[in-house]
Amino acid sequence: MQTIRCPEGFEVCTVEGKGRGVFARRDLQAGLRVCVCSGYITDMKNITAMCLQLDANVFLQGVGEFDDFINHSCDPNCVIRFEGETPVLFVLKNMLEGEELTFDYNTTDWDMYEQEASANSDIAFSCRCGTAKCVGDIKGFRYLSDSQRSERKDCLSPFLQSRFSHP
Ligand SMILES: C[S@@+](CC[C@H](N)C(=O)[O-])C[C@H]1O[C@@H](n2cnc3c(N)ncnc32)[C@H](O)[C@@H]1O
Ligand SMILES: [Zn+2]
Repeated sequence: MQTIRCPEGFEVCTVEGKGRGVFARRDLQAGLRVCVCSGYITDMKNITAMCLQLDANVFLQGVGEFDDFINHSCDPNCVIRFEGETPVLFVLKNMLEGEELTFDYNTTDWDMYEQEASANSDIAFSCRCGTAKCVGDIKGFRYLSDSQRSERKDCLSPFLQSRFSHP
């Protein structure tokens, strides 16, 4: 398997049931700015599961940089915040060496079924985060209950904030 180049303190490893994932190789403090999310801009027709939604039909398509291997959790330890239009990954909770980095895909993606239909590619999935807050199938913010939406309101991308205010 191809070795993925990572910044110092991070490693891409195989994770049971989730393909590969990114792990901390040192303790990480909440608030740490990990990286600018990598990829190129494309539309919904041309995405794969390694994409991040930026607007209704604007996506950041990953090409296999280390941040493209960050898995989803329904109770994540990282978050994507936007600096202007640029998505940046930050540590949300203090992490110990050995922990897997995760963020909540439901804070960026509106409708992963719509994405699947457009791109003809598998994008929604059944979550194996194993946390008490797990919502089950990960298919986008559109499908969350009102309370699940409210729990995420401080972590939403600008695009989902606008959908949250005007559903
Ligand atoms: C951006 S990729 C993450 C890297 C991926 N694990 C890999 O090896 O290429 C997103 C894909 O990883 C898998 N994945 C991510 N988080 C998961 C989770 N909590 N449970 C199950 N599969 C997950 C799903 O197949 C999803 O479509
Ligand atoms: Zn989950």
